[in-house]
Amino acid sequence: ADALKIGIAGLGTVGASLVRIIQQRSNELAATCGRPILITGVSARDKTKDRGIDVGGIEWFDRPEDLAQKGDIDVFVELMGGVDGPANSSVRAALERGLHVVTANKALLAYHGVELATIAEDKGALLNFEAAVAGGIPVIKALRESLTGNTISRIYGIMNGTCNYILTKMEKEGLSFADCLKEAQRLGYAEADPAFDIEGNDTAHKLSILTTLAFGNQIAADDIYLEGITNISIEDIHAAADLGYRIKLLGVAQRTDTGIEQRVHPTMVPVDSVIAQVDGVTNAVAIESDVLGELLMVGPGAGGNATASSVLGDIADIAKSRPGAQRVPVLGHPAKSLEPYRKAQ
Ligand code: NAP
Ligand code: HSE
Repeated sequence: ADALKIGIAGLGTVGASLVRIIQQRSNELAATCGRPILITGVSARDKTKDRGIDVGGIEWFDRPEDLAQKGDIDVFVELMGGVDGPANSSVRAALERGLHVVTANKALLAYHGVELATIAEDKGALLNFEAAVAGGIPVIKALRESLTGNTISRIYGIMNGTCNYILTKMEKEGLSFADCLKEAQRLGYAEADPAFDIEGNDTAHKLSILTTLAFGNQIAADDIYLEGITNISIEDIHAAADLGYRIKLLGVAQRTDTGIEQRVHPTMVPVDSVIAQVDGVTNAVAIESDVLGELLMVGPGAGGNATASSVLGDIADIAKSRPGAQRVPVLGHPAKSLEPYRKAQ
């Protein structure tokens, strides 16, 4: 069968891992998907940087927007980050052409997700973003597909690997906040601007996407009560432990009688609860719904391989999909039918 041709914009932590995995597993992927997956174009800022991958035989684009216009690609994979820069313009251009798009960019989706989903649905293209929320945990697939038919009442969890890593290291190894953050950056967990992690914005971006998938409302990323972990000291962590609690940065979204409540803040969780045992870069997402009951998913939340695993799953889904087949709505509900966001009073 014809190869699925992909262009990858962004060759940093996630992009380089993705290239490595696709190249190392090309035979297995071709067998599983029924067709080879071929990288025919890449884009990043610095062509001379050693990324530990071989992109020598692949066409290079300085501008991701130009990669999005490359004639032979079927899928545009956006792994750059950012809300209004080249990520937005190139994803938009790719969708306008009817190309499928895969992205790990939760900030982009939190602010432009509905518009982009509308373009994708109008063009019959897929817009897949499993890696955008909780890294390697398949929470988007769970909400968008598996839980169809359930009425969801609440979603909560640990959705930022960097913060959970910092809180865990501070408690278990007595390291300073600044040293833990530096280590999270070195390991490739943090955002390009780590303020997004530690101030809670990244969790809010992810939560706003999950809220829309769960409740069918417009994305409301700025309408979230937001408090990060920058004020948490080792003394706070020890005081919580003395009382039988651990401190976790949680995102919570729930239906109430007056609307939807969304909040992100450090939370004291009982030390014997499952969520209190979730350590390091691991994330956990709990979904409460009427037919299934409570679903709890725990797994790697950030880092090159964990994230690339989800990106690759999204690409493989496209490779396996039949042209013209009925598409699952990008945000779980047709983009044009999303209800206005009604914030709980
Ligand atoms: P990163 O290491 O900073 O890599 C970003 C890549 O994008 C770099 O290769 C950079 O090029 C390229 N880039 C940036 N601006 C560009 C531009 N204007 N034109 C062309 N290329 C450009 O970031 P990352 O950690 O891989 O994250 C990428 C995306 O995945 C972000 O949206 C992030 O939020 C998301 N994500 C990351 C993780 C994670 O654990 N790291 C997990 C889930 C989701 P140069 O290398 O030449 O500078
Ligand atoms: N910076 C993010 C985190 C990457 O630490 O969770 C995964 O989305």
